Amino acid sequence: MSAALLIQEEPYNLFIPNQWHINRFATLRVRDAEARLQICRRGKEVSLWSFDVQPAVYRNQGLGTQLMKAVLTRLSEEGVHEAWLTVEKTNHAAIRLYKRIGFTITEHSSRDYIAKVKLSDYSAEK
Ligand SMILES: CC(C)(COP(=O)(O)OP(=O)(O)OC[C@H]1O[C@@H](n2cnc3c(N)ncnc32)[C@H](O)[C@@H]1OP(=O)(O)O)[C@@H](O)C(=O)NCCC(=O)NCCS
Repeated sequence: MSAALLIQEEPYNLFIPNQWHINRFATLRVRDAEARLQICRRGKEVSLWSFDVQPAVYRNQGLGTQLMKAVLTRLSEEGVHEAWLTVEKTNHAAIRLYKRIGFTITEHSSRDYIAKVKLSDYSAEK
């Protein structure tokens, strides 16, 4: 897929019980395809949610990887040390992508894994 990338971040606040998180949506568009990722912050803690490529026909062409790498690079530049996410144990495509980029699984529930990536030495070139 050609690499005419546009990343937009839309600041907004979302109330989560007992916590205020500062949130951003990172969006990457290539032609008719859009990848989105929600970035939640609580102090120095960062979690990533709602990772999605639409329309689904554009999945498995590297767009999700490009967006995730762009977001991790940005967070690294902002001085964030670590980011985490949850993924369903049956979501093999997402798990493969996360591991390839550098996430490691650190915890799990009956349904989900929690995966973390260290950003202090993160490089999108790896
Ligand atoms: C997860 C998602 C965002 C990834 O975006 P994407 O653009 O498809 O990702 P990429 O093309 O960069 O990489 C997908 C990887 O999954 C692999 N993959 C696809 N189907 C797979 C399967 N059934 N089993 C194992 N791996 C699979 C691809 O081979 C590719 O890995 P590779 O490049 O190492 O070969 C996208 O698939 C999506 O929107 N899924 C639905 C929503 C979702 O599950 N979000 C994640 C929530 S945690």
